[in-house]
Amino acid sequence: MQVLYVFSLLIIGAASNCSPSQTIRNEKLCTCCYNDTKGIPTIGVGFNLKRSDAARVMIKYKLKLNDVLQDCQKRTKNACLTTAQATDIFNNINYPEATKCVSRYAPGMPTSVHAALTDVAFAGCGTLNQFVKMKRALVQKQWKTAGDELKNSKWCTDVKSDRCGRDVACIASGK
Ligand SMILES: *[C@@H]1O[C@H](CO)[C@@H](O)[C@H](O)[C@H]1NC(C)=O
Repeated sequence: MQVLYVFSLLIIGAASNCSPSQTIRNEKLCTCCYNDTKGIPTIGVGFNLKRSDAARVMIKYKLKLNDVLQDCQKRTKNACLTTAQATDIFNNINYPEATKCVSRYAPGMPTSVHAALTDVAFAGCGTLNQFVKMKRALVQKQWKTAGDELKNSKWCTDVKSDRCGRDVACIASGK
């Protein structure tokens, strides 16, 4: 019974184009400090090291924030996370925060739509909240219109790659 359950979860996970694991692939996972596109020192899956809780989070993994930041300044790799630790921060901090943002922005969305919106929320909750017309369309279950709002956005141009197309498709599916 349990095996069957896990198996069906795996299938659902593989079939869905928008999911937490797709967001990890989109954001990229870096185990050492790097400057993000805005020049902000970052680690793991987009964990901003300028956050007020950054030192506390790093200590949990036996790293001193100053050592981690120094890697960015000196372009060294001395104070890094393991992949499992980076994933842990993503699962316990970044993803829940982005999910909470989506639940406030557009409550009760279908799974795939919610995951796509969460992927956008990784650019910041403020960025997602700027999508006022998309929000209106989502509330009215006008999935295609909502997807088009994302497609024609600056975010879409900025992320390049196929990230935007995937999220647009998930939103348009209404699933
Ligand atoms: C990150 O940005 C800082 C400050 O602008 C710079 O000194 C450093 O060389 C950059 N590090 C990397 C790895 O790009």
